[in-house]
Amino acid sequence: MNKPIIAPSILAADFANLQRDIDLINRSDAGWIHVDIMDGVFVPNISFGLPIVDAVRRLAQKPLDVHLMIVQPERYLEAFARAGAATITVHYEACTHLHRTLTQIRELGCRAGVALNPHTPVPLLEDVLEQIDQVLLMSVNPGFGGQTFIEHTYRKIARLKHLLTTHRLPALIEVDGGVGPDNAGRLLDAGADVLVAGTSVFKADDPMAAIRELGEYPKP
Ligand code: DX5
Ligand code: ZN
Repeated sequence: MNKPIIAPSILAADFANLQRDIDLINRSDAGWIHVDIMDGVFVPNISFGLPIVDAVRRLAQKPLDVHLMIVQPERYLEAFARAGAATITVHYEACTHLHRTLTQIRELGCRAGVALNPHTPVPLLEDVLEQIDQVLLMSVNPGFGGQTFIEHTYRKIARLKHLLTTHRLPALIEVDGGVGPDNAGRLLDAGADVLVAGTSVFKADDPMAAIRELGEYPKP
C-alpha cells in the first residue's frame, strides 16, 4: 500500500493568518493544499472565491486541490485554472454534462476530479471513469468543516476501488470530511489514496505533527 497524500483543507485555517498557515503546510509533509469553494447555493455556506485562491497560489509551494461546491461549475473552470488550480474537482450532482466538463478541465491543463455526495452511488461514474483523475468521496454532507464522519464511506471506497481495479484505471480515491487519526488507517485499508483533513489538522495542538501522523498511516 502506498503512503497517502495528505491534503490539509484551508477551510479550517485562520483566515486572519492565512500566510502563516500556508507556510506551515509548505514546511509539512502535506502533498497538496485542499481549497474549498462554496457558493451558498449548491451548499448552504459561502467560503471564499478567486482572489483568495490566487493569493494562496502565490504563497503555496504545493499543488492546489480545488474542490468546487458550486452550481454550474463549467462557468468558472478557466478562471480557477488561471488562479492556479492543479486539480479541479466538480460535483457529480452539479453537472448536467459531466463528460464535457471533465474534458474541459483536462484541456485547461488541470487534473480532473469528480466529487460524490454521501447519497450518490459510486456506479454512476462508470461511464466517465476514463475522464477522471480522482474521485472525491464526501464523507460528510458538504458545506461545513468539523462534521462527523459518515461510516458508510468505507463501503463506497471499497466499491470504487473494485471498479477502478476491474477497469484498470489509475484514478485516485480522495476522502473528504471528518477525517483524522481515528479513521485514517481504516480509510487507507479500504483503498483511499488522498486524505483531506481540516479540523483534525488546524485545530490540533501541533498541526505539523497532525499532518505528519496522518501521512504515517498505514502503520505496520
Ligand atoms: C466540507 C469540505 C471539506 C472540509 C473538511 O464541505 O469539503 O473539505 O474542509 O473539513 P473537516 O476535515 O473539518 O471535516
Ligand atoms: Zn473539500
